[in-house]
Amino acid sequence: MKVVTTIKELKRILSQDRAEGKTVGLVPTMGALHAGHASLVRRSVNENDVTVVSIFLNPTQFNDKSDLERYPRTLEADCALLNECGAQIAFAPSVEEVYPEPDTRHFSYPPTDTVMEGAFRPGHFNGVCQVVSKLFSYVEPDRAYFGEKDFQQIAVIRRMVDDLGFQLQVVPCPVVREADGLAMSSRNTLLTPEERAIAPHIYSTLTASRQYARTHTVEQTLQYVTEQINAVPGLRVEYYSIVDGRTLADINDWADSDDVVGCITVYCGQKPIRLIDHIHY
Ligand code: PAF
Repeated sequence: MKVVTTIKELKRILSQDRAEGKTVGLVPTMGALHAGHASLVRRSVNENDVTVVSIFLNPTQFNDKSDLERYPRTLEADCALLNECGAQIAFAPSVEEVYPEPDTRHFSYPPTDTVMEGAFRPGHFNGVCQVVSKLFSYVEPDRAYFGEKDFQQIAVIRRMVDDLGFQLQVVPCPVVREADGLAMSSRNTLLTPEERAIAPHIYSTLTASRQYARTHTVEQTLQYVTEQINAVPGLRVEYYSIVDGRTLADINDWADSDDVVGCITVYCGQKPIRLIDHIHY
């Protein structure tokens, strides 16, 4: 596997691959790779001749600077994992390489980027669109792979792909979970053992709410999930929303959509660490 740090070198290698008729898969990441990322990379390796994995901790999508500062950085271990998964290129540019000038572009895809994470992390999806659009134009992939853990992010990126006319397929990949149900996330490594022990309540409550929802309204189910999780000392729900899986607009009645998704963000512990998850009803 080649580790490439400049856009020029990346484009040079890929134009050679394209001239040979090879297909290209892109897996955008911010590093601190885990088994969830590995599943995306393996899928891309199976479906494309060349897989590029970008490792770039994108500053423009962090509205909270302390979140950016403590985000884990594990480049050496990341490259070892990518090698094992069969990726051909790890693209690990510097911030100056990606943003030689401040990016002043503004992306707006309401309601996908204004609700939930969009409301609680102002500017977050604008930063995601800035970096992902740059990666798409450097790599020009046939397919781009994103984890469904960031459910809302996929909806925003799909809108951006349609808006900017990128000729690529967005491939959503299922959430990978720990044995106790906690969704895998780079942020999980920041949890203390005590925090790690309570974090699985998030998914177990979401799972239990499926049964509850059969005999209760949307509003009652929102309240049930919020109260059950807030009852666990150390966990605090930031929001729980039950939405249409395509538009991400809130629903009021179960019959309002045939693709109902519950999306949650929970603060865990003292620091606190922000954990997100979702469930299909
Ligand atoms: O999902 C992530 O890790 C990031 O938001 C992404 C897509 C790599 C953009 O920085």
